[in-house]
Amino acid sequence: MKKLLLTLLVALVTFACKEKPPVRSSDYMASLPEGEVKRKLIMGCTSCHQMGVPVAIRNTKAEWDATITKMLKLDEDLKLHLIPLTKEDLVNWLTEHGSGPIEKRNTTIYSDVPVAKAKYEEFPLGYANGFYHDMALADDRAFVADYFGNKLYAINLKTRKTETFDIPVNVKPGKPGGAHAIDKTHDGKIWITFTKSEQVMEFDPTTNKFREYHGFTPGGNVQYFVLDANRDVFEDKSGNFWVSHFSKEILTQVNRATGKTRVFNTTRTKNMDEAAVHLYAAVADSKGRLWYTETHGNHMGFLDPATGKTWEKPMALTWAGPKRLSIDKNDMLWIPELATGKITLYDTRTEKIAGQIELPIKGDYIYAIRINPYNGDVWATGSGSDSLYRIDPKTRAVRVYRMPRRGTFTRTVVFDKEGNVYTCYGSLPNKHTQMPYQNAVVLKITPQD
Ligand code: HEC
Repeated sequence: MKKLLLTLLVALVTFACKEKPPVRSSDYMASLPEGEVKRKLIMGCTSCHQMGVPVAIRNTKAEWDATITKMLKLDEDLKLHLIPLTKEDLVNWLTEHGSGPIEKRNTTIYSDVPVAKAKYEEFPLGYANGFYHDMALADDRAFVADYFGNKLYAINLKTRKTETFDIPVNVKPGKPGGAHAIDKTHDGKIWITFTKSEQVMEFDPTTNKFREYHGFTPGGNVQYFVLDANRDVFEDKSGNFWVSHFSKEILTQVNRATGKTRVFNTTRTKNMDEAAVHLYAAVADSKGRLWYTETHGNHMGFLDPATGKTWEKPMALTWAGPKRLSIDKNDMLWIPELATGKITLYDTRTEKIAGQIELPIKGDYIYAIRINPYNGDVWATGSGSDSLYRIDPKTRAVRVYRMPRRGTFTRTVVFDKEGNVYTCYGSLPNKHTQMPYQNAVVLKITPQD
């Protein structure tokens, strides 16, 4: 009896002392009414930073008005066409459904789920007001590039020594080149796209030299490299690589040796301004055929470069937001949907949907999927819940890894041979990530489960 009482007492004290888990952006999003307006809001307001708590929230109509005016101007100045709602609709909807202290509106903290064990190490580098979309690894060094400052930063993961490289972008001094995607080719070279200067750079980590590629369709916004099932930049048999463009429904082939470009049109999305469709990311299957997503156009699409044949299929739900997809070694597409928070699997061999995966944290928005080339594990960014999800491709069981900060808007995942996993805090603005650092951060995760 005494023992039982003692056990009860210990349990009670443990319960009472358990710190209340923090409310995260995904909890705020879960508290908003479901529907197309919400999905449009997610598409427009969670492309640059997390929405709601901890930082991006306002309490009154006047405050929302001031902020949304600013956000719409940013969207316009950067010519992004990201926000598919009018100022009036946004202000009214957010005042009605999304204002005020979170505690009063939402007591369910869905993001408080069991998390897998891991060791986390942060590597700060770069400059405070930069924007760091992606990262890459080359031997012992991790790299990030600043969208605004046109610099490539490296940090040695063993010694923490940092380096800075001026990127020879073709812009007037002080203007952003728009460094965006960073990936690597099979031979270990690092590649960067520039949405603003319409260029691509190859960086050789053995010589620290850049090689520049240009000649892209003006106003296209060079966006992402087409990747393969090894998580590398796809290179076809003739030595070409490919890029997608944020503002045009095209994919461009670039010959790596000669730099010559060739533009392929994809299926035109009807009833939408081409610049607002956002043909987003693309991957290549084992036959060299290309598969892409359109975030705002809400399609998945196909292009066979051998024949020029192209088609598109709409996603199951309007404004689902198919985003940074991956392909596995069985030619299966893993498509993250930003606005539904779900993953759609599409088998390119049978040309059929092969399932949908719901993630354990309600209200989360999934920006990217990356597949570990060494073991096939699928990783999705829990961009609204400060998490990374690890999915077993066979059982589809999901584990959650919780990052050490809030506001960690993440857009990529990178892997090394030793089983470590990396990402970078990719919020624009960088200061929305709640951290003691004033710069970019590369996060190394060593799973312990
Ligand atoms: C193009 C990128 C981008 C998009 C899209 C965007 N934001 Fe922002 N947001 C920013 C930046 C940059 C800041 C920081 C502004 C500053 O410090 O002056 C910010 C700051 C905020 C803040 C903090 C308060 C403030 O006024 O600075 C709130 C709230 C916010 N955004 C809400 C939204 C909402 C709501 C949407 C969708 C309608 C949205 N954001 C879309 C880039 C974006």
